[in-house]
Amino acid sequence: MRMTEYTWDAYAALPLDTKVELLAQRDGTPFHTLFAQQFNRGILDELGTLATEIRTIAKSRAGMQFLQSLLGHKRAMLYFSQPSSRTFLSFLSACQILGLGTGELRDASTSSEYKGESREDSVRTFSSYFDMIIMRTPEKGLAEHMAWVLSNSERPIPIINAGSGQDQHPTQALLDIYTLQRSFERRGGLRDRTVVFVGDLARGRTVRSLSALLLNYPNIEQVFVAPAPLQIGRDVLDALDAGGVRYRLGDDLASALPNADAVYMTRIQDEWDKEQGESAKIDTSRFHIGVEEMKLLPPDAVLMHPLPRRAEISVEVDHDPRAMYWRQMRNGMWIRAALIATTFGFGRRIHEYYRENL
Ligand code: NCD
Repeated sequence: MRMTEYTWDAYAALPLDTKVELLAQRDGTPFHTLFAQQFNRGILDELGTLATEIRTIAKSRAGMQFLQSLLGHKRAMLYFSQPSSRTFLSFLSACQILGLGTGELRDASTSSEYKGESREDSVRTFSSYFDMIIMRTPEKGLAEHMAWVLSNSERPIPIINAGSGQDQHPTQALLDIYTLQRSFERRGGLRDRTVVFVGDLARGRTVRSLSALLLNYPNIEQVFVAPAPLQIGRDVLDALDAGGVRYRLGDDLASALPNADAVYMTRIQDEWDKEQGESAKIDTSRFHIGVEEMKLLPPDAVLMHPLPRRAEISVEVDHDPRAMYWRQMRNGMWIRAALIATTFGFGRRIHEYYRENL
């Protein structure tokens, strides 16, 4: 069956595995990118290779001209109804690298939604002008619903989920995996490692998506270090149990650091507080990395953060060669360019250009 053969309610009730199957195109690549679980090892390797080729090609003027000629006939709509600077600019830059024209809507008060237009109608309006929608929303499942709406319209264009509620951030997970792969590529690759997640694991979507992608790599232990009220969700642990993955939960960062290969810090997501000051009541002071904590981290480990950061990593740490977060952010632009190129079926052209010219 295809996605369009289900009513929305029937589709929404399907298990994630079935949705993932329905979303795959014939060659396995996603049309709509909604969940991290859509990416298997083959696609992850392909996107990583493509991202590295794109960043190499883009170094020369001739290479950049080639890349910009690829999707000059396409336009993407950036629909960001939730605050963003990094992800927005990274997608915008990725579009520019590939020559896509872009439009943006970031403030619902300047759109017709303010006049009472439904989001379904807004999205169908975008699809009249654009060839792709890149969407960030505070609502879990909205990008998915819009993908279903578009697939059932006369102009089914792809949607990329650029962050949905507390649930999913698949392209952040792609850039995190790409960063991990690059960090370990000369040291045996991304396998037999311990990844330590720290901070607000209950409400942060980046950890949820990255935890799912790590299931594609052999023997990766996942350690979740958080204050008890902000510990990782049961559904994430169920997926690890189903995948036979080792994991540990705790609240003592100092004891987790000496065994870590990668530490993934996150900020407290207090915008999700149900009552005012809820997060402020939780003692988060121990979930912090400064110069002293870095002494506990092995010399070849990496320190990551999806950003924006608050106090959880001291700025003094930025100069440490293990601090990977700025490079991680830049990796996002390249892997998003790779994803957009792949979605439009231009991966092979890029591989050919790379083989012939570099
Ligand atoms: C993250 C997000 O939006 O979930 N930011 C990002 O996209 N890099 C993390 C966060 O907001 O804490």
